[in-house]
Amino acid sequence: MKTPFYYYDMALLDSTLAVLTEHAKQNDVAVHYALKANNHPRILQKIAARGMGADCVSGGEIAAALAAGVAPASIFFAGVGKRDEEILLALQSGIGAFVVESAAELFNIEQLARANGCIAPVLLRLNPEVDAHTHSHITTGLAENKFGLAPDDALALMPHLIQSDALSWRGLHFHIGSQIREAAVFEALCHKVNHLLSLFRTIGYSPEIVDLGGGLGINYAEPQSESIPNFAAYIQRFRMLIEANGARLHIEPGRSVVAQCGSLITQVLYIKEGKTKTFAIVDASMTDLVRPALYEAHHQIQLVRPDNWTIPASPVPIAMRPYDIVGPVCESSDVFERDLLMPELKRGDYLAIRSAGAYGAVMASSYNMRPLAESLFSDER
Ligand SMILES: Cc1ncc(COP(=O)(O)O)c(C=O)c1O
Repeated sequence: MKTPFYYYDMALLDSTLAVLTEHAKQNDVAVHYALKANNHPRILQKIAARGMGADCVSGGEIAAALAAGVAPASIFFAGVGKRDEEILLALQSGIGAFVVESAAELFNIEQLARANGCIAPVLLRLNPEVDAHTHSHITTGLAENKFGLAPDDALALMPHLIQSDALSWRGLHFHIGSQIREAAVFEALCHKVNHLLSLFRTIGYSPEIVDLGGGLGINYAEPQSESIPNFAAYIQRFRMLIEANGARLHIEPGRSVVAQCGSLITQVLYIKEGKTKTFAIVDASMTDLVRPALYEAHHQIQLVRPDNWTIPASPVPIAMRPYDIVGPVCESSDVFERDLLMPELKRGDYLAIRSAGAYGAVMASSYNMRPLAESLFSDER
């Protein structure tokens, strides 16, 4: 296949899904996969076949989840800016809940539901003001972020929500950010959630669902040492710490489900000896994988042989030299890694940019009129 392309290790995806669904089942936690991480139909079909639900943030994602076979009742629709036509699609499809992020949105959903003779199921997304200690672009749970309702504002909406003929309250939702690697952050979230739950319960509002969002981080530095994230610890922590009192716990993992099974495969176009640096100019760019340019993210990069995209070409350390691995796009931020020690590189060498299965292909653009990278799946070879 023409480089650059995304390569997905479907055996690893299968094992990841098996571990995740097993721990979720043992702990009676519902899993809604966050489609925003990767929405390729091949991947969605595998996820749907495991009986998982879907966390969607657009009408397009709802349609993709339905097409892959996700049960409508297991689809939740989040996002701060839902358009009327997306709300109507969700109502007509019979989704499980709208995750509502503002009063204005709640009243709009109510009006559309009433006009169409429907009752809209609602979770209120609360902003718990817990710092995810992650990159500022992927932190969502602080008061300064655009997401969620302040707890007081949510409480003020409750009498209306409970009495409405076109709305049905199902529970509360929280999501504080992504790529969270510290257990202490999730512990802080649990304590805050318990505090907010008791506020609601004291006034007589007992949620049927407590949705804890996504956010579990993955090991970008050494993907092979942790190819499947520690779902057991992640899920058991919620089960042990959240005072559920009969409410069903939900999680919405995205990155942790699909990141490690994907690599972006690229070929070296040119080696350029600069005054102070050696550049390996590759045919992939920030248009294929924007995370390094957007979030200062680091992905492991390995020299690979074309007969197996998952195995490094040279596992035994040989003479190494530093390269800046850069793409062809006319932006200084089009850099995958700086001063990366690699074996001697030459034109035509294949590199695998690891852990690219999440927030990779879905964030691609055609800037510079570049074509979108295609996908290759290990079980299709
Ligand atoms: C509401 C919500 N749920 C779930 C996710 C998935 O997060 P992650 O991929 O970090 O698991 C996100 C990501 O931004 C989100 O905004």
